[in-house]
Amino acid sequence: MEPPAADACAGELVPTRQDPGTRAEPRARAATLWKLSVSGNLGVRLGNQIRSRKGRPRRLLRRPLGGYGRATSARRINRILDALQEPTTYLEVGVWRGTTLENVRATRRYGVDPAPRFDLARLPKNVDVESTTSDAYFEHLDHDMVFDVIFLDGEHTFRQTYADLLHALDHLDGGVVLVDDTIPTDEVSALPDERVSRARRKELGLPGTPWHGDVWKLVVCLAQFHGELGLRTIVGSGNPQTLVWRTDRGATSRRVDHLIEGEVERLTYRETFESGIPDVFQPCSEDEAISAVLEFVQPR
Ligand SMILES: C[S@@+](CC[C@H](N)C(=O)[O-])C[C@H]1O[C@@H](n2cnc3c(N)ncnc32)[C@H](O)[C@@H]1O
Repeated sequence: MEPPAADACAGELVPTRQDPGTRAEPRARAATLWKLSVSGNLGVRLGNQIRSRKGRPRRLLRRPLGGYGRATSARRINRILDALQEPTTYLEVGVWRGTTLENVRATRRYGVDPAPRFDLARLPKNVDVESTTSDAYFEHLDHDMVFDVIFLDGEHTFRQTYADLLHALDHLDGGVVLVDDTIPTDEVSALPDERVSRARRKELGLPGTPWHGDVWKLVVCLAQFHGELGLRTIVGSGNPQTLVWRTDRGATSRRVDHLIEGEVERLTYRETFESGIPDVFQPCSEDEAISAVLEFVQPR
């Protein structure tokens, strides 16, 4: 994953790095305080500082901060939602500290995570979060429930993300799925077990803390076995993510045979990425990916 500490906190009140003696930091702080104040979030942000000192879970911002900001996922999701007719609906699988969820501008926002790290008792208006796994969530989700955008950022394994995607597709009606972390930084970041990956990185003295898991195999699987889906992988301008949508709204998506699934699972990072990002990922810029998706994604 884009390390949670980086992406998930990108929309937070992060002090700007600066050369000593410049006036950038006070200015940036003042701008952030102003933004928090006009958006009605200053009280929550100050309260969160106290909560953090007392070891209590943070509260989500009352309203998304404006603009397309530095928080990569929220920016991309908002660019799509802003092109749709309201009311819009959004689901996030794997919400963690809620940084993306709180910055997405959808009329109604839903989230699921077995261990969300914020206060579920005092959620903003029109936000619902269930503390459970994605499998359990989708199992009980009303069949008629549809979302405009679903962000898959839960368990970062091929098998679970594939299961999440198939469930998600059942709840789209001209909407789109954004899948996180679809291009690993290197072979170690592609290891499916986060602990093993981080330990190996330390052992090898590799820089940084990236971990993406083997979600990348999902893109290969979709490109090879799901002709009913369109996809584009966003590279540059932040974490690599893949947008997936049904090119024919009436089509259904069936899970591939378990033998094929096993074959996909056996793919290796080294072979797949030895000459760079394979064409099946349809790598492109954020602008190109969003333009492609907006040709298909329609307001209901
Ligand atoms: C990378 S963090 C999510 C970051 C968040 N989407 C954001 O942008 O700020 C991954 C989250 O997935 C959650 N998770 C792990 N397994 C899950 C599952 N089976 N279903 C739903 N969420 C899961 C973890 O608890 C963790 O909070």
